[in-house]
Parts: sequence; C-alpha cells; structure tokens
Amino acid sequence: MRKRVVMVMMAVLMGAGATAAMAQGSKCADCHFANPDAPRRGHMSDWDRSAHGRQNIGCEKCHGGNATSFEKLVAHKGILSPGDRKSPVHRANLPTTCGSCHAGQLMEFQKTRHFQLLKTDDKRGPTCATCHSDVGDTLLSPKALESQCNACHGPGKAAPRPERAKNARAMLESVREARQLLKQSRDMIKQVKDPQRKAKLTQDAEMVALELKFAVEAGHAFVYDGLQDRVSRARTKLTALFDSLTNPTAGGAVKPVRGVPAPWTAQAQQR
Ligand code: HEC
Ligand code: HEC
Ligand code: HEC
Ligand code: HEC
Ligand code: HEC
Repeated sequence: MRKRVVMVMMAVLMGAGATAAMAQGSKCADCHFANPDAPRRGHMSDWDRSAHGRQNIGCEKCHGGNATSFEKLVAHKGILSPGDRKSPVHRANLPTTCGSCHAGQLMEFQKTRHFQLLKTDDKRGPTCATCHSDVGDTLLSPKALESQCNACHGPGKAAPRPERAKNARAMLESVREARQLLKQSRDMIKQVKDPQRKAKLTQDAEMVALELKFAVEAGHAFVYDGLQDRVSRARTKLTALFDSLTNPTAGGAVKPVRGVPAPWTAQAQQR
C-alpha cells in the first residue's frame, strides 16, 4: 500500500508526464487509490493485501476495462456495474471469471447443484465470493467453513442438511492435518546431508503437496469422495516419506521433529 501511495504522489508532483513512468502494473488501482470519489475503499485495501494484489493480478482481470490508460473514460470502456447480469463480477459470472485462472476449482464447481442455481439466477446458492470474499483474499478455516455451509444448510435455512456442514469441516481438517505433517517432513528433510537423498526426498514431498492441491480443487464439488481420495493418497505418500526419513538403512535416520505422530517413528524402530 505504501509503495502505491508514494508512486501516485510522485506522479502528482512531477505532472502528467510522469504517469508513463509509473509502475508497469494496472493503472486502475493507482487512480482508485488516489481518488477519494472512487467507490469501495475497503475493497481496494483488501485487494492490496490479497495474494492477487501481491502477484499483480490487477482490477481489470476481474472487472475488464483498459488498465493501460489513466483517462477514466478510456479506462472504463466496457466496465459494467457488478449488478449488471453481463458484468464479469456478477455473482452468476464469477465462477467463469475466477475460473479463467483457477481452472481446477471451476471444473469441480461446474458439476455442482450450486453452479446450476447460479446459472438459473436462483439466488439461494453460493458463488466463489461467498467463501473467498470479493477479491479472493479469504481462506476459510474448517470451523468457518462449517458456519458457511450452515448459513444455508443449517436447521431452518434455505436447504436444511446440517450433516453437510459437519462433514465439510472434517474434510478440511483432514487436509490441514496432512499439510501440517508435510511441513514437519520438510523440516526433517532439511537435516539430510547427502544431496542425492535430499533431492529425492524433496521430490517426494512435492508429490504430497500436489496431492493436497488436487484435494482442495476436488473439494469444490462439495461432495467429498474426490477430496478424500486425494488426502488418502497424500497420507500414503507421507507414510513412505517418514519411513524413509527415519529408516537407518536408507542412509542414516533423521531425528523426528517434535509432533510427528508415533506410528511412523515406531515403524522404523521395529526394523
Ligand atoms: C482516472 C481515474 C480512474 C481510472 C484510471 C479507473 N477508474 Fe474506476 N472509477 C473511478 C472513479 C472516480 C469512479 C467512481 C464513479 C465514476 O466517477 O465513474 C470509478 C468507478 C469504477 C467502478 C464502479 C462502476 C459502477 O458502475 O459501479 C468500477 C468497477 C471501476 N471503477 C473499475 C475500474 C477498473 C477495472 C479500472 C482499470 C481498467 C479503472 N476503474 C480505472 C476512477 C478511475
Ligand atoms: C479477484 C477479482 C477482483 C479483483 C482483482 C478486483 N475486484 Fe472489484 N469487485 C469484485 C467483485 C466480486 C465485486 C462485487 C460484485 C458484487 O457486488 O456483487 C467487486 C466490486 C467492485 C466495485 C464496486 C462497484 C459498485 O458499483 O458497487 C468497485 C468500484 C471495484 N470492485 C473496483 C475494483 C478496483 C479498483 C480493483 C483493483 C484495485 C478491483 N476492484 C479488483 C472482484 C474483484
Ligand atoms: C488473472 C488470474 C486470476 C484471476 C482472474 C483470479 N485469480 Fe485467484 N489467484 C491467482 C494467482 C496468481 C494467485 C496466487 C497463487 C499463489 O500465490 O500461489 C491466486 C490466489 C488465489 C487464492 C489463494 C489465496 C491465498 O491467500 O492463498 C484464492 C482463494 C483465489 N485466488 C480465489 C480467486 C477468486 C475467488 C477469484 C475470482 C473472484 C480469483 N481468484 C480470480 C490468479 C487469479
Ligand atoms: C462453500 C465455500 C467455497 C466456495 C463456494 C468456493 N470455495 Fe474455493 N475454497 C474453499 C475452501 C474451504 C478452500 C480451502 C482452504 C484451505 O486451503 O485451507 C478453498 C480454496 C480455494 C483456492 C486456493 C487453493 C490453494 O491451493 O491455495 C482457490 C484458488 C479457490 N478456492 C478458488 C475458488 C473458485 C474459483 C471458486 C468458484 C468457482 C470457489 N473457490 C468457490 C471454499 C469455497
Ligand atoms: C449461500 C447458500 C449455500 C451455501 C453457503 C452452501 N450451500 Fe449447498 N446448496 C444450497 C442450495 C440452495 C442447494 C440446492 C437445494 C435444492 O436443490 O433445493 C444446495 C445444494 C447442495 C448440494 C447438492 C445436493 C443435491 O441435491 O444435489 C450439496 C452436496 C451441498 N449443497 C453441499 C454444501 C456444502 C458442503 C457447503 C459448504 C462447504 C454448502 N453446500 C454451502 C445453498 C448453499
């Protein structure tokens, strides 16, 4: 945020000619930060802090328009109000807009009843922003996910099926647990001296990370067979990874880091 303000101030001080020298990135943000009349200040600071802001995914990637111009009329050409059914950020169009970069999530989401509801302009279902906020800067915790499902599937709500919320929470917890183990395995890999062994183990850890990425994508079907399948593959790979880390015959045992559950360390000791 500070960097952006400084850039805008420099442009103001140096006159209009300086605009071309400003960041290569989106000019939308520069004007919107500088212009007190521009709507939704909170949205801008959310964007600035988000993974999107950090990776220079500019306003135009979701809203359209011409991000190279500092002339409002030119910049805004083609931009529709979000309430317009044709706007790329209209709730019914968000899956496709976000999905242009998050194809895995879109693919799963398209299979769902939730997606059908959006396509038929039935307002009872969720869209991407329901769980990720408008700029995609939110990742729900398992507990928050449970509440989110329950907002619609809780008793007395639009589509009461409270077990769905509970199940969703358990599923996300299983992903987080596996992520925690992955982190611990990576801490152990750091202690491995032999470069060849280390490279192999690092690669194995990457494979676990990939399974977990696919698990989260599959979770966007909101029925969780796909996710469960991926998590169990991740766990199988983690078991093998811990086994090879703690097995003395494979080039020296690595001291388990605190918190690694007993089965893995015990398995190695039985050998
Ligand atoms: C030169 C300043 C300036 C630039 C550049 C600019 N905007 Fe704006 N924008 C504004 C102002 C001021 C408003 C408030 C409404 C108005 O005056 O049109 C606004 C309004 C908007 C709105 C609300 C429109 C509505 O109908 O509700 C959106 C969305 C928007 N801008 C997105 C963008 C995007 C995306 C870009 C870049 C492609 C961009 N803006 C570039 C100044 C700017
Ligand atoms: C990741 C996608 C995404 C990005 C990036 C993004 N926005 Fe938005 N924006 C949205 C969504 C979604 C909404 C809310 C739509 C709704 O109200 O249903 C929204 C709403 C707005 C509005 C409110 C318009 C109105 O009339 O209420 C403005 C203005 C706006 N965005 C400007 C910006 C600007 C400026 C940037 C860059 C700093 C930006 N947005 C970046 C997705 C995005
Ligand atoms: C132009 C491509 C693009 C678009 C459009 C886009 N994203 Fe992203 N998104 C990214 C990139 C790049 C990242 C950062 C990935 C990383 O850091 O590993 C990201 C990260 C995320 C994250 C992870 C956030 C975190 O804190 O880790 C979420 C959630 C997300 N996007 C949701 C959305 C949603 C919802 C939309 C639509 C409203 C959207 N994205 C639109 C490219 C995009
Ligand atoms: C009902 C809630 C919900 C909806 C709707 C939803 N997501 Fe998610 N999304 C989640 C949860 C939960 C996670 C996993 C959070 C975590 O990793 O801890 C997630 C993770 C993500 C990530 C981050 C993946 C990563 O590896 O960091 C992206 C990107 C994403 N979702 C995009 C989308 C897109 C695009 C849509 C719309 C098509 C969407 N989501 C709809 C709940 C939702
Ligand atoms: C914004 C409201 C909303 C949220 C949030 C929401 N749902 Fe739904 N969901 C609905 C509605 C409405 C339906 C359709 C009910 C109907 O067909 O009558 C539905 C349908 C479903 C279905 C399909 C059932 C079928 O008949 O095919 C599943 C599964 C589901 N939701 C799971 C979840 C899970 C799990 C979560 C949380 C991760 C969640 N939903 C979050 C509103 C929501």
